[in-house]
Amino acid sequence: MINIALLGFGVVGGGVADVIMKNNETIARKTGEHIHIKYILDLREFPDHPLGGRVVHDMNTILSDPEVSVVAEMMGGAHPAYDYTRAALEAGKHVVTSNKEVVATFGAELLRIAKEHHVRYLFEASVGGGIPVIRPMSSCLAANELSEVDGILNGTTNYILTQMIRAGKSFEAALAEAQDKGYAERNPAADVEGTDACRKICILAALAFGRLYAPASVHTEGITAVTAEDVADAEAFGGVIKLIGRAGRLNPDDPCSETFLLVSPHVIVHENPLSCVDDVFNAILVRGNAVGDVMFYGRGAGNLPTASAVVADIIDIMTHIEAEIFVPDWESADGAPADFTALPYAFLCRLETVQSYDEACASIRSIWTDAEILTAADVFEGKLSFVTPVTTEKEARCALSSLGTLSAMLRVMP
Ligand code: HSE
Repeated sequence: MINIALLGFGVVGGGVADVIMKNNETIARKTGEHIHIKYILDLREFPDHPLGGRVVHDMNTILSDPEVSVVAEMMGGAHPAYDYTRAALEAGKHVVTSNKEVVATFGAELLRIAKEHHVRYLFEASVGGGIPVIRPMSSCLAANELSEVDGILNGTTNYILTQMIRAGKSFEAALAEAQDKGYAERNPAADVEGTDACRKICILAALAFGRLYAPASVHTEGITAVTAEDVADAEAFGGVIKLIGRAGRLNPDDPCSETFLLVSPHVIVHENPLSCVDDVFNAILVRGNAVGDVMFYGRGAGNLPTASAVVADIIDIMTHIEAEIFVPDWESADGAPADFTALPYAFLCRLETVQSYDEACASIRSIWTDAEILTAADVFEGKLSFVTPVTTEKEARCALSSLGTLSAMLRVMP
């Protein structure tokens, strides 16, 4: 039997207890031993829960108990989660976590501390909820030089966008549903403003390229500025809008080339499989120089999917308890990633202009002969939507600056 402690007994912590109570026999059949939840650290009491008697309020109870070999941190927030994680690793306990804020901010340091203390710091649940992506990227794709990782990384915003597009729900109603279902962060601003997706792309980029960028250094746009007009324009172009995290080499063929990271709404054409990833589902596309493109897909949020990934990490530790496992070194990046405005993109734009329809079309075509005009003459009311050919943001903004006001400029996923 392995003794573990849960830090945090909210949506994910409760889900981990449920999965262990439900599947402990299955886990024992696969690993040779049962998981015993010895302590649950939380500020609250849970008198009606079957494990309510195991609740403690002092982290030192866990740190000083030599029987506890694994700590599962699911508190959320940077502090005290980081401090408890660090203390647990220094006390020689393995730590597994779903806390993307801690991994994205302190992951390089915590991996180093884990290595120094011959324990493991695992974070499969920090990206993509229940989707196995961290371990496959670290192990199954280890033979590849990776050039790009793109994904729909936030279940809440994907749920909101899907409900707005498919069911015509309001932003507020869709967000309330995502909160009810346990998908949203405690402060849903982290979801809708893109912060959560940003933390996740930082983690994926560190796995792919060995360098952890501070989330604050990454250009991040959420979905709060996406309008019904944007959705209709994307549909007219043959696509949908999704919040995408992207990280890659500026020059995909050069493994030493600078790394870019970016989070923003993108137009995804219907031919791209990411366009079909709806509701709480996430998908992550990884591009390797041997394997080509690999896509991971599944439920990106929710108590049981996330708990599935947390418990998988505990099982990984149980099955390698005596082994000295290789721990990757992540370098902490000091500066910002490469300039994202240099990335090649087509843009879906909406120009507000005083010109007539014919004049506005002629102006656009004088810049890009092959621009695709989306607005029909009979519905033109001083707003012209069009899609540029592949260019860069810098060039597009410069070319359009004299023609009128841009009320939308959405990246079209390459
Ligand atoms: N709030 C997050 C999401 C939870 O919606 O994706 C999973 O990380």
